[in-house]
Amino acid sequence: MKRFVALATRFNRWRYTLYSPVYDLVAGLFVEQRRRAIALLGPRPDDKVLIVGAGSGLDLDFLLSQRSLTAIDITPAMIAKLKSRAGKLGVDIDARVMDAQRMDFPDAHFDVVVLHLILAVVPDPLACIREVERVLKPGGRAVVFDKFLPDGKRPGLVRWLANPIARLVATDINRRLADILSATALVKVHDEDAGFGGFFRIVLLRK
Ligand SMILES: C[S@@+](CC[C@H](N)C(=O)[O-])C[C@H]1O[C@@H](n2cnc3c(N)ncnc32)[C@H](O)[C@@H]1O
Repeated sequence: MKRFVALATRFNRWRYTLYSPVYDLVAGLFVEQRRRAIALLGPRPDDKVLIVGAGSGLDLDFLLSQRSLTAIDITPAMIAKLKSRAGKLGVDIDARVMDAQRMDFPDAHFDVVVLHLILAVVPDPLACIREVERVLKPGGRAVVFDKFLPDGKRPGLVRWLANPIARLVATDINRRLADILSATALVKVHDEDAGFGGFFRIVLLRK
């Protein structure tokens, strides 16, 4: 398992380096979902905010009044794009290349965490969510925007067959959020349809 995770993490870095020049053309389509998710999260201006698997920084547009922003991503090319976007927006951000499955932050360090399109991408989502729980302060909140299989459901044959290819080029389409959350004591306080017939969800979690 450890070897698979290490290999898949290296693969992710490689393919997101490849995608980085055109990434915004696709991920930039989710403007309304990002706006809604961050509105639900409702960070106060002084909250310490962590964006996990931050990509090119498309969430920054909705975090302009935050005074303490940190972003991590495994792909240096994405972090470079994020820093360039932050510069243009005049946003001060601590952006680092870091593995979401093994974060280099102290316990209980952040008030809020943004998890957009990352839990279905990291090879080990349980490790990632445990790290989110660890770095969140007690009472802290995390918002998830991603695609999931409904809790308790098994994938149909087509979806099951399509998943290896989906995972290779983009993202796992057969993960269940309840399975991921079961690795933690995080509490789901809100869950809503975020498009594609409920395939995409916006979920608010509390520690
Ligand atoms: C689908 S993109 C989402 C980016 C951004 N959150 C967004 O909403 O546009 C997934 C991102 O996760 C990053 N990533 C993949 N595996 C990671 C890991 N183990 N740790 C941190 N970032 C990772 C990729 O480099 C990529 O930028």
